[in-house]
Amino acid sequence: MAFNLFDNEEKVIEDGARLIAQLDGAKSELRDGVATLLDAYRKSYREQRRLVRVSDRQQEQLSAVNQELQRKKEEAELALTSLKEAQENLLQAEKLASLGALVAGVAHEINTPVGIALASASHLAEQTAAVKLVFAEGRIRKSDFADYMDTADEASALVLSNCQRAAELINSFKQVAVDQTSAERRRFLLGGYINEVLRSLAPRLRQSHVQVTVDCPAELEVDSYPGALSQVLTNFVMNASIHAFADLPGGNIAIAIRQPSPDLVELRFSDDGAGIPEAIRARIFDPFFTPKRGSGGNGLGLHIVFNIIAGTLKGQVAVESEVGQGTSFIVTFPRIAPGEDQ
Ligand SMILES: Nc1ncnc2c1ncn2[C@@H]1O[C@H](COP(=O)(O)OP(=O)(O)OP(=O)(O)O)[C@@H](O)[C@H]1O
Ligand SMILES: [Mg+2]
Repeated sequence: MAFNLFDNEEKVIEDGARLIAQLDGAKSELRDGVATLLDAYRKSYREQRRLVRVSDRQQEQLSAVNQELQRKKEEAELALTSLKEAQENLLQAEKLASLGALVAGVAHEINTPVGIALASASHLAEQTAAVKLVFAEGRIRKSDFADYMDTADEASALVLSNCQRAAELINSFKQVAVDQTSAERRRFLLGGYINEVLRSLAPRLRQSHVQVTVDCPAELEVDSYPGALSQVLTNFVMNASIHAFADLPGGNIAIAIRQPSPDLVELRFSDDGAGIPEAIRARIFDPFFTPKRGSGGNGLGLHIVFNIIAGTLKGQVAVESEVGQGTSFIVTFPRIAPGEDQ
């Protein structure tokens, strides 16, 4: 080692030893005195060396601990990244799942008007063929022709109105589906939009015998994210039909909109079902919280709802519930979402 921390001390000890040798002829008290002093000095020197060794060792241990900490930190960062990815994937899966439900709803709803139109058209075709035949044989009577006209009138009216109904359904589903897959912001009439979303959920609501009423100021226009709103409503409706009315023959949902102030919208979604026990009420927005694991629930619905409301709608959500009485989710959000393209 080029640098010796104890150069000076070692030199003093050497000098001391030399001094004692020179004092050989001198008075023994002086010599003994110097020797004692030198001894004491040697001891202190050894103690110092020992302390330096201890401190070196501690330094080494400390740097080992630091390295370990650094490694742990990197591990934690890696875990966080993969957790974020997993969360992203789950959100995507949830979106696809609600889109799947929507598609099933569309198919079901459109089935009725298209079915009626088809039946009417084929009835008209049959009657036309029959009347054509009697006409070709030259034995058509006035009453045959009058009957046929009635049939044609009725059938074409039915075809027309049901095709119109199907077209309307397709249009509104198209909008809801586009909104659900894009994060687009636009201006829309809130009440009308809520009804369109509910229409896409109609089969589900009918199946669980749930009646829905919507109370919204007709002129209320918002400038926000309809896809986000439709996901929130879909989750509330699904939760009500799965959890609130699980053990009931049916139930009621009330959606009430008011404006606590001109720039604020309050949406109150209430069911009169089972309610949420106080013990779990504080945890329902936590990810993966569900008392129904294994029977279909992931416990992600309300977590996603919470994130959409806070993140996209820039609003807040609260819950009120009474066991046996029902549950209300109160969503408050700005009428004009803050941020770009106002
Ligand atoms: N309207 C409601 N009535 C009674 N309980 C409810 C209602 N909404 C939610 N809950 C309770 O809150 C829990 C969490 O809801 P959340 O939507 O997050 O999960 P989930 O419905 O169990 O699963 P997922 O939505 O992922 O399929 C539910 O499991 C249920 O216990
Ligand atoms: Mg749910």
